[in-house]
Amino acid sequence: MSDQHAQKQAAAKAALQYIEDDMILGVGTGSTVNCLIELLPKFRLAGAVASSQVTEDKLKALGIDIVDLNFAGTLDIYIDGADEVNQHLQLIKGGGGALTREKIVAAASNTFICMVDASKSVEILGRNFPVPIEVLPQARSYVARQLAQLGGEPIYREGFVTDYGNVILDTYDLDVSNPIALEKELNNIVGAVCNGIFAANQADILLKAGHDGVETLKR
Ligand code: 5RP
Repeated sequence: MSDQHAQKQAAAKAALQYIEDDMILGVGTGSTVNCLIELLPKFRLAGAVASSQVTEDKLKALGIDIVDLNFAGTLDIYIDGADEVNQHLQLIKGGGGALTREKIVAAASNTFICMVDASKSVEILGRNFPVPIEVLPQARSYVARQLAQLGGEPIYREGFVTDYGNVILDTYDLDVSNPIALEKELNNIVGAVCNGIFAANQADILLKAGHDGVETLKR
């Protein structure tokens, strides 16, 4: 088992302390979340709101009821991973392409708990990992030109379609030194559905697993 995978498992285990029987749990997407999903059968959840079809299928396979967010009200907690996290608990997400549904469920939750391994921790977001941007298919070229004007280099994620039938532009070289401002600016591009910067709604609790265990950071 890789060191990174062991850290993902440790972060997922640390997240269990926040889960209670009878709650409707918001569940994210990705390999770290998959470690958490494996542990969920210990609980008698009232149900779960899934942030992707992949997660929904995994939860259903374990017999966990899927609840439509429209009928769930405000969730107590949403638990997910991230591709990058800075010291303010602001994130880049969307490596798995589920960013829009993830942002919706995170926004509809009182507490966003983010689980990461040590490799995800960065000083400045976006220097290594691109910002994924979900785009309506017809607007792909237009949005790409707008991103280039902002100094970004958008790469079309070929062969990938989101749960909402849209495409993704993985955008390198954007200046993410002010994540809140850039998130807003990207939100203003017509045809861009959502971007992978989670800064206005950053994580509330970060569970960061490293060689020496799991560190808990709160905002
Ligand atoms: C999916 C995501 C994931 O949280 C992110 O890609 C991290 O994934 P992993 O836990 O596999 O490292 O945002 O859209």
